[in-house]
Amino acid sequence: MASSALALSGLRIFIRTFGCQMNENDSERMAGLLAAAGAAPVKEETAAEVVVVNTCAVRAKSEEKLHSYLGRLQSRRRDRGLIVGVAGCVAELRKERLFGPRGTVDFIVGPDEYPRIVDIVAASRSRRVLAVGRTRSWREGGQSLALRGNPASAFVTIMEGCDNFCAYCVVPFARGREKYRPLRSILEEIEGLAGRGFKEVQFLGQNVNTYRDPESGEDFPSLLLRAGAIEGLVWIRFLTSHPKNFTPALVAAMASSPKICRQLHLPLQAGSDGVLSRMKRGYRREDYFRLVADLRDRMPEIALSTDIIVGFPGETEAEFRETLAALEDIRFTDIFSFRYSPRPLTAAARLADDVPAEVKRRRLLDVQALQKDIQSGLNAGFIGRTIRVLCTGKSKKDEKVYAGRDEGYRVVNFRSASDVLGRFVDVAVSSAGPHSLRGDAIQVL
Ligand code: 5AD
Ligand code: SF4
Repeated sequence: MASSALALSGLRIFIRTFGCQMNENDSERMAGLLAAAGAAPVKEETAAEVVVVNTCAVRAKSEEKLHSYLGRLQSRRRDRGLIVGVAGCVAELRKERLFGPRGTVDFIVGPDEYPRIVDIVAASRSRRVLAVGRTRSWREGGQSLALRGNPASAFVTIMEGCDNFCAYCVVPFARGREKYRPLRSILEEIEGLAGRGFKEVQFLGQNVNTYRDPESGEDFPSLLLRAGAIEGLVWIRFLTSHPKNFTPALVAAMASSPKICRQLHLPLQAGSDGVLSRMKRGYRREDYFRLVADLRDRMPEIALSTDIIVGFPGETEAEFRETLAALEDIRFTDIFSFRYSPRPLTAAARLADDVPAEVKRRRLLDVQALQKDIQSGLNAGFIGRTIRVLCTGKSKKDEKVYAGRDEGYRVVNFRSASDVLGRFVDVAVSSAGPHSLRGDAIQVL
């Protein structure tokens, strides 16, 4: 490490992150490793000597954003020796194009190579570096050093990759098969976080429900219960869950521990059995509804959010209306909705992308309009109530205005006379919109 520390001493590095929470956590870990080796993370891209772009490949649009960002960096790369590196899912997927003779980057670091980021950046100062490849088991790297973006809530990656091969999804090709982090390493990290005053952890993985400790075989419910026993930690969340792997034991573990937030992100993707089957999701509409009923039976206040794809190949108007009906029945607190786009290597890429663009656009608008009404209605029900909020942000414009989330992961903006960043606060809700609640702090815990 000593030579690397010298090699990166003072080197100004900017990390730009696209995509999911997993990428955010990977960036936090890379930043931590680089800083420990002497590099200086900077907040402005223009001040950097090295830019690392952590990329997302899940939808065509995310990849387009990357290419336009890389395009903008090229003149500084050519004229002023800026070093540009690409990490994350696109690194793995598009390595030939990015690294070829007409490539636009100086180094590529695939998701399994992050623990070597210091050596890769050091080497990239004298030559182009391609560091990709697949490991079969979890590789430790930088967890304890992570430079976290949030003062109270920490992401903790517990598994990586996915074995499901949903027909539309590129993740298994970009991130590889499922790899699980040893339980003792996870517990060590969260004990450290609790000791440093973090109030919340969010376990991350593409499919956290299938987690198994590679050493003891202990499963995900067991991990949750062990985490729940750690002193100091108050809220525990996890994502993403797959409906087909959500076992009764997991429902029971959630219900039995008050520290596990009554909140779940549970991607439905589509409301009709035909589309679900073509998507190879492994459950039917009825199974999903039964799981929701079970969760609400055990935890009546649970907040559920979801992902929806419209315009999957062959989706008829009738099938699409089943998605709308499912949204109306379930009443999610939040949804992330997307137009289907074909992704390389996936099974669905071999199907005709036959729903016309304007139909996809209209279906997306229909989904979003319906969901906006649902959220307005649900959030209006909070007016006049007092809710507990973990404060994680502060307004830049008004120093008395703070932001945080409640147990259900709703965004809450509120006024407070004292500085409450990083604290739990009880907020009296006075107004609500479809995307947030507003109110005043009445008690700081
Ligand atoms: N087209 C559109 N949306 C997609 N997603 C994943 N792959 C695609 C695709 N090819 C969405 C899914 C997933 C979320 C992270 O992104 O809804 O849950
Ligand atoms: Fe993609 Fe399906 Fe795996 Fe989620 S479960 S990452 S949608 S393949």
